Amino acid sequence: MASYLDHLECTQCGKSYPSNQLIGVSPCCGKVLFARYDLAKMRREVDRDALAGRPANMWQFEELLPVGDPERIVTLGEGGTPLLKAPELGRRLGLGHLYIKEEGLNPTGTFKARGISAAVSRAIELGAPGFTMPSAGNAAGAAAAYCARAGLRAKVFMPQDVPDTNKKECILAGSEVNLVEGLINDAGREAVAVAKEQNLFDLSTLKEPYRAEGKKTMGLEIAMQLGWKLPSAIIYPTGGGTGIIGMHKGFQELRELGWIDGPQPKFIAVQATGCQPIVQAFQQGKEVSEPWQNAATLADGLRVPSPFADYLILAAIRETGGTALAVEDSEMVDAMYEMATAEGIIACPEGAATLVALKRLVKEGFLGPEETIVLLNTGSGYKYLHLIKDKV
Ligand SMILES: Cc1ncc(COP(=O)(O)O)c(C=O)c1O
Ligand SMILES: [Zn+2]
Repeated sequence: MASYLDHLECTQCGKSYPSNQLIGVSPCCGKVLFARYDLAKMRREVDRDALAGRPANMWQFEELLPVGDPERIVTLGEGGTPLLKAPELGRRLGLGHLYIKEEGLNPTGTFKARGISAAVSRAIELGAPGFTMPSAGNAAGAAAAYCARAGLRAKVFMPQDVPDTNKKECILAGSEVNLVEGLINDAGREAVAVAKEQNLFDLSTLKEPYRAEGKKTMGLEIAMQLGWKLPSAIIYPTGGGTGIIGMHKGFQELRELGWIDGPQPKFIAVQATGCQPIVQAFQQGKEVSEPWQNAATLADGLRVPSPFADYLILAAIRETGGTALAVEDSEMVDAMYEMATAEGIIACPEGAATLVALKRLVKEGFLGPEETIVLLNTGSGYKYLHLIKDKV
């Protein structure tokens, strides 16, 4: 069964655009374009239980993904990750229904694989000759791998101080690695300039419509894995925010299909104290964020001082009754140990940050014992072993 993709829609003014063209941001407002599907038709034609029998990867949801011809899907088996119960952490915190979505099992070790698989597949289907990609680290690794898989060579742009692992995975997959002085926004400027000059397609977070579509499958899987029920809260380490935005959109689509009901989960954004533009904007009641000055955190994925789609992240948090909070780097590293010793999950610092946030929110009474809570471990701790300083 193929995609029900219908058109694209500007998230600022609602203007429609055809979906059969290579496009970045909305020409009208310069904002994020959302993929819109013919959900009324899909509701008549597709049964949710039919999906459950398919191989467990994100293309299980291909009707809600943008690729027209299944032959064009560039895949390494992304998605289909387990939603693990966390009984020991739950016991320690007095929570009866605590889960961890283990995204570390994805190709290239992070959830970035989902967004890149969707975006690269669709862009190639629409004729993209090659790609640039600015990244905090992990998205570059994923882009390198998926471009290699498609027979292309990505040009990636990363801050020069990203972990060696990120540089090496890109080199290994044959991409052209450009190290940039500054942060991801500086990498973004360079990537866009090279894309323009060399007629390549730029894959910057939320500056094309389809990475968010790949990321939304985390939410679709969570709903399916809970028996088509939604959790009451999802705690998500937020940099550019694609995951929150994608999952929020995915749940709305499932509701329109009549596959789920009940309220949206509360979206809880976790950032680092050294880079917390979303937390600040949320606390100040603002609809957009101010660029965070001198951004610094060991959680590279959270070092995004000026998220392009801040207005969508903040809307998702507010619409769902969620919240936003920042945690210290040292707390993240401690939580890497705790997740590993309590549950055997080797998490990245960004994923471990969700545990720090959870503890604080339970203590404050924001989250209660009967709630079904999902922590998003966005990547594998194996990419971050340089943070573990103990000697054997
Ligand atoms: C491991 C990890 N977690 C979280 C994030 C933040 O993701 P998002 O851009 O969806 O907010 C990133 C982004 O680089 C990451 O690499
Ligand atoms: Zn517009």
